[in-house]
Amino acid sequence: MKYNFDEVIDRRGTNALKWDPELIEKLMGAKGEDLLPMWVADMDFRCPQVVIDSLKKRAEHGIFGYSMPLDEYYSAMNYWYKKRYNWEIKSEWVINSPGIVPALNFIIRALTEPRDKVIIQQPVYYPFKSSIENNDRVVINNALINKEGKYVIDFEDLENKAKDSQCKLLILCSPHNPVGRVWEKEELQKLGEICNRYNVIVVADEIHSDLILSGNKHTTYGSLGKEFENNCVICTAPSKTFNLAALQISNIIIPNEEIREKIEKEFMKSFMMTPLPNIFAIDAIHSVYSPEGEEWLEQLLTYLDGNADFIGDFVKEHMPNVRYTKPEGTYLAWLDFREVESDYKELERKISEEAKVVLDGGSMFGTKGRGFIRINYACPRSILEEGLTRIKKVFFK
Ligand SMILES: Cc1ncc(COP(=O)(O)O)c(C=O)c1O
Repeated sequence: MKYNFDEVIDRRGTNALKWDPELIEKLMGAKGEDLLPMWVADMDFRCPQVVIDSLKKRAEHGIFGYSMPLDEYYSAMNYWYKKRYNWEIKSEWVINSPGIVPALNFIIRALTEPRDKVIIQQPVYYPFKSSIENNDRVVINNALINKEGKYVIDFEDLENKAKDSQCKLLILCSPHNPVGRVWEKEELQKLGEICNRYNVIVVADEIHSDLILSGNKHTTYGSLGKEFENNCVICTAPSKTFNLAALQISNIIIPNEEIREKIEKEFMKSFMMTPLPNIFAIDAIHSVYSPEGEEWLEQLLTYLDGNADFIGDFVKEHMPNVRYTKPEGTYLAWLDFREVESDYKELERKISEEAKVVLDGGSMFGTKGRGFIRINYACPRSILEEGLTRIKKVFFK
């Protein structure tokens, strides 16, 4: 089957957080019917047909009682992880969670004490910081280094910070939102060796792991070897990959029994047992972690790769002094506007109020993100072109 990612599907009036003007105003403070949303990380594409068919079938059955994964669920996960990442998962390692952000909160509470320190690598997905602070833990920033547009890990700084015995966790974004890096195996190993040396548990948020652009390869942290597998928590989900965020399903993989028990115990303070996924989410997992899901994903990745190149060509032609490095993964582009507008607040205001484009300003991801913008390019190319053109008209008259 050939999917048509150019099709523009109207999402207004569907409770879409990204598109509904009422919700945009509530969440982003931007007003107007003519806003073009390129912010929250979901896609403007229909999910694979195999999901639609299985959810229809389930809806027709008409009973939505308590549900729980069975062998088929773990077989589907194993199919995906073995085939795509060469990592074998045991079913008992997996805990379901309604999302990765809630899981991070449970994990932080389970594995650290109040005032303990947790490392993150800014600029990074902002709920990492708030999850740590909301639980009265301390954020330690091992800031990434921007080497002419390519971000790398500051290993020396990491070692200095990990040495502190109050430092208990590192939350790794792999691939990295917003800078688009797909960490290489050697980088992950080096990071892991430092963390293992100082007993810092690595929580690898791999929600973007399937969204890898051509020429890059994702290594799941758990596949690095026993000593890494034993000191980590891997957070995964089909939500970004297949556009299923509203089904609210993620899989938290914890090979180490001791760590897993602590996390299970923390979940059980709030749930009857560990969280039970909703029945539609179970069906969706069966459907997508399959050859049909893979076929759709490969076509999606080709389209996204084209969009990432489109941004590059557009910037080169129409946006002098904007710096753009093609992402290695995710569907998020990170554009450096510092030479175009030195005041980051003014940059973000102009984009929202004058260009009428809703996106995440770089300042949300940490102070080093100031002067950058993040564009979600998981949309039909015509929408992407419209968004870029609106921005161009404001800054390059
Ligand atoms: C790195 C990262 N983690 C987690 C999430 C959200 O996950 P969930 O919806 O499962 O809480 C996002 C969404 O953009 C993300 O980019």
